[in-house]
Amino acid sequence: MDKIKNKILKLKNQINQANHQYYILDNPIISDTQYDLLLRELQEYEKTYPKYLTSDSPTQRVGSTPLKKFSTTTHRIPLLSLDNAMNTGEIRDFYARIKKGLPEESFELIAEPKIDGLAVELVYENGIFVSGSTRGDGITGENITQNLRTIRSIPLKLRDDKIQIPSLLEVRGEVYINKKDFEKLNDRQLDAGKQIFANPRNAAAGSLRQLNSKITAKRPLKIFCYSLGTCTGVTFSTHLDFLKALPKWGFPVNPLIETCRTPEQMENYHNKLEAIRDDLDYDIDGVVYKVNSISQQKFLGLKSRTPRWAIAGKFKAQQEITQILEIEASIGRTGAVTPVAHLKPVSIGGVTVSNATLHNQDEIDRKDIHIGDWVIIQRAGDVIPQVVKAIPERRTGNEIAYKIPNRCPICNSQVIRDEKEAKHRCQNINCPAQIKGSIQHFASKNCMDIDGLGQKLVYQLVDEGLINNVADLYYLHKDTLLKLDRMGEKSAQNLIDSLNISKKTSLSRLISALGIPNIGRHLGKVLENHFESLDKLMEASFEQLNEIDGVGQIVAQSIKNFFSDEKNRLTVIKLLEAGITFKTSEISNDDKFLNGKTFVFTGTLTSITRNEAKEMVEKYGARTASSVSKKTNYVVIGENAGSKAEKARKLELNIMSEKEFIHMINSRKIYSLKV
Ligand code: IVH
Repeated sequence: MDKIKNKILKLKNQINQANHQYYILDNPIISDTQYDLLLRELQEYEKTYPKYLTSDSPTQRVGSTPLKKFSTTTHRIPLLSLDNAMNTGEIRDFYARIKKGLPEESFELIAEPKIDGLAVELVYENGIFVSGSTRGDGITGENITQNLRTIRSIPLKLRDDKIQIPSLLEVRGEVYINKKDFEKLNDRQLDAGKQIFANPRNAAAGSLRQLNSKITAKRPLKIFCYSLGTCTGVTFSTHLDFLKALPKWGFPVNPLIETCRTPEQMENYHNKLEAIRDDLDYDIDGVVYKVNSISQQKFLGLKSRTPRWAIAGKFKAQQEITQILEIEASIGRTGAVTPVAHLKPVSIGGVTVSNATLHNQDEIDRKDIHIGDWVIIQRAGDVIPQVVKAIPERRTGNEIAYKIPNRCPICNSQVIRDEKEAKHRCQNINCPAQIKGSIQHFASKNCMDIDGLGQKLVYQLVDEGLINNVADLYYLHKDTLLKLDRMGEKSAQNLIDSLNISKKTSLSRLISALGIPNIGRHLGKVLENHFESLDKLMEASFEQLNEIDGVGQIVAQSIKNFFSDEKNRLTVIKLLEAGITFKTSEISNDDKFLNGKTFVFTGTLTSITRNEAKEMVEKYGARTASSVSKKTNYVVIGENAGSKAEKARKLELNIMSEKEFIHMINSRKIYSLKV
């Protein structure tokens, strides 16, 4: 038996070594065919001797049983975000802050490319990859272990190459897709009749968030590691030492990392990376500077969600010149018409762009854009490419001015521009484009989160006349679904199950799912907090709505218009009759923006009671104390405040008025009066 065990071990080592050579050292030692043969041999052994199959085996990268939902993981140490420096001045300010903040004269900064992908955390226990998660809100993320296991450049077992193995190790990094692989992936998506991804980052995000890890396994995901969470048993005195340890354990680290000692060196690094940006095979959207010494990092400490010892220097948006071939009027879920420019495909920063949004007619007029024009196109991070300006000097006289048509290209109904807004709208609320858009919106992740109801299925259901509005979804029968093209027993049942699961929701989700113009998730929550029931919201007058903090006249009118429409009221009633119920919406961690903070209230509050104030801060994760100390984060001063206010001033704490406090709560933005 030992012979078999040894053989299996040898095969694993050979495969792991081949992976390491390929992904970490960029120096392949065997061909793809040889690699596949080794893998197949190992698979055979593991099939025959299943007791030797372990979770860290390289055969486990093919993906496993699909999940219904991702579970959530609370990070042992939060994954921080970074402050941005938008220009040289802000980089110099950062340098000056560090210099001023440290007792020592000398310090070093490590400069790294800022990879434009998705942050993840990988957890290893005694050298074995046990779990991994997305960054999420920094506090909790989604458990995507199955998916991360499929990424070949992530070690499933740490190497002990002249380095100790920590009993617990958490490594953070960025999962990304190479530009070339991204284009190939989009070609494959097109061939399969699936939607293409807007950019490599979206493709990486979509691939990592697949519930079926077998799909993830087919996506060309990669990783660069750059930061440490918990590490038990091994300590580092500098960030650079940690970066040097990573490849020894088997993690890929970006090769373009440098040390800077002066603001000039930081600028040089920034300029150098910006100049080679297009030539890199992966998207970067800036550079990151981190204080090298870990003890200095600790000394400088953190702000609420970002470290004082690091900063991201952002790059300028990437631009190219190309020609507008056609302009198409695309109809959204509210009937809004968005002109989309179809472009002569152009590579911007290594990614092919063939469409760009033109927003509305005013924008087209202001930029004087014609069909046939040569234009400057810009790609900035996650955003859909934009047309920056036309180049009139390149006109030949054959260009055609564009006006949004006065008939909807989908249903031929009238398209009218509301005088008060810049948008044209298709007036037919039964327009198939609007129906499809509103159902897709309803089913989306941030709304009713109906798993498995994607664009294709929505189109099919509407085109077949099976549904005409969002409420119809809940009256679909499995037998009806089975009549659809390419719909099997299992998929039909899954959809029915997802629909049933989605019925238990929160009021704010349903409010945002209805697609009332100008109402998103945040306002959904504001309205839920205020009304607590859909009936009350439906009956609210314009004045009542307008009185709510955060609800302006446009929003109030929009809600009023929506519920004055008999058709919409009927849809809502039908939804409720289908059995939609509300759980009191829990405040998500994302919304606990005051997490861990301490408040002291002093003096008389005039617009709210002390108790209300206490409830407000507790709701968002903070607590109140009765006396002021160095540990107090905020002191709210009412009328006739006395000694506590005085003490707060002496301690240089964050002091705010009642009005400022209420504004902070309503805007969910932390005031930092103290710098
Ligand atoms: S360090 C405190 N290093 O940028 C350290 N982040 O805007 C926080 N990112 O969430 C992260 N490349 O997703 C770090 N070399 C790099 C990075 C990097 C990309 C991302 C990461 C983070 C975001 C912050």
